[in-house]
Amino acid sequence: MMPKRTPKKSEKLLLLFLFPCVVCLHKSCTDLSKLSLVHVGQKLENINKIQSYIVDGLMACSRECLFQTNCLSFNFHLTSGLCELMRIEADPSTLVPSPDVAYASKVDWGKELTGSCQYTDCPPNYKCVEGSNGGTCVLTECGLPFLEYGINPLYNGTGMGCTAVFTCSGLGIHPENVSLTCSSTTGRWEGGRCRNVASCEAVKECGSDYEDGEYWLYPMIYGNRQKIKVYCFGLNTGNPQAYVSLPPGNKHFYPKYQYDHSCGLNDNFYRSGESVFTKIGLNVDTMTIRSEDYQFTQVLWGVNGEYAVAADCVQRPTQTCTQGNYGSFKINTTGTGVIIDPKTTWGFFGWGSAQNYFNRDSDQVIEIQCKGYCGGCRPESDVKLQVDNDTVLDDNMADEVSCSP
Ligand SMILES: *[C@@H]1O[C@H](CO)[C@@H](O)[C@H](O)[C@H]1NC(C)=O
Ligand SMILES: *[C@@H]1O[C@H](CO)[C@@H](O)[C@H](O)[C@H]1NC(C)=O
Ligand SMILES: *[C@@H]1O[C@H](CO)[C@@H](O)[C@H](O)[C@H]1NC(C)=O
Ligand SMILES: *[C@@H]1O[C@H](CO)[C@@H](O)[C@H](O)[C@H]1NC(C)=O
Repeated sequence: MMPKRTPKKSEKLLLLFLFPCVVCLHKSCTDLSKLSLVHVGQKLENINKIQSYIVDGLMACSRECLFQTNCLSFNFHLTSGLCELMRIEADPSTLVPSPDVAYASKVDWGKELTGSCQYTDCPPNYKCVEGSNGGTCVLTECGLPFLEYGINPLYNGTGMGCTAVFTCSGLGIHPENVSLTCSSTTGRWEGGRCRNVASCEAVKECGSDYEDGEYWLYPMIYGNRQKIKVYCFGLNTGNPQAYVSLPPGNKHFYPKYQYDHSCGLNDNFYRSGESVFTKIGLNVDTMTIRSEDYQFTQVLWGVNGEYAVAADCVQRPTQTCTQGNYGSFKINTTGTGVIIDPKTTWGFFGWGSAQNYFNRDSDQVIEIQCKGYCGGCRPESDVKLQVDNDTVLDDNMADEVSCSP
């Protein structure tokens, strides 16, 4: 048993003055020795508070504490009647001076004070409500708040309707404050959750010393739980962008315009060219690619062409001058951890368009050859990427962002 502080005589007198009921109005509180267990002018710090009520007196406050399973002690504000129920019993040496407040432990008050509740044991987070046939257990609070990856919660109580604000912190965790509320219907802490770093903007927010490179991002579209490897570009700018780094061979080819009947080629056609994508732009929120983002393409000759589009403008009056001359696109996402959504379909566009070759034997490699005058084939919707479930990437292929809270 912890040593109890004995109140000075003047404090006892003060109590008698303020709470005549302690002595005479209630049968069970005639025991004057009880008063020596009340720490007048001291209180327990608020962080341990469950709930508070305005009540009629010290006795009523002790009863509130006795009714609630998690209450182990209470602060009673002598003037305002504020009764603060606390979830721990204080070591008297940790009490802080506070004029006009009295602190007491639940164990010092007899259960008989709770009337018809004295034979009812309620589970944690419940309180007993008196009835003519004994007590009824009613959910009254949520217990200590908990949030995965949340630290340093700030809250003024754990009763229904109370809020607790956590700071999110941890490897790959986006630093932000998340608020939970104790739900009066479920008796559980509900609200947000700590999110993983989901975008290159979030990487930038995490720290100014992050340089462009490969990072593990947790797209919201996958519930923020599934990670993908993303190259963040422009982290030192106001508008960082996400890319997927590709293996060699992601190649666009748009042949030169054939304008005469003798297979002569006009090498000035403005769409013609051959280029290689080393990275493709990715909108992480939707997991769709930016097929016209040419930040990471190498033009071999001519101009860039859209990712995943195969087209040309070759008029083919005879079979003889068309050999090997179809517009083409080769996709290779091997080893990136993502693939083109298998549901993606290609359709024709332009004039006289037709398909010459289409290879989709694997999820990682797609080869398309299409022609037109001008025309070809292109994805029928924005190209979406999906996690490649057949490929497991090494954790060390990208950095897990560590944000300071
Ligand atoms: C706790 O109470 C203080 C003072 O009333 C208030 O400013 C603060 O927002 C409250 N904190 C929470 C988490 O409810
Ligand atoms: C979270 O709240 C704390 C305390 O109010 C504040 O100091 C901090 O700046 C907040 N952090 C964020 C990321 O908003
Ligand atoms: C796709 O890229 C992988 C990895 O670089 C390579 O091994 C493979 O040969 C490529 N496949 C094709 C069809 O180009
Ligand atoms: C990969 O697995 C996840 C989770 O099981 C699933 O939702 C997703 O559709 C799968 N991706 C592909 C391309 O099948």
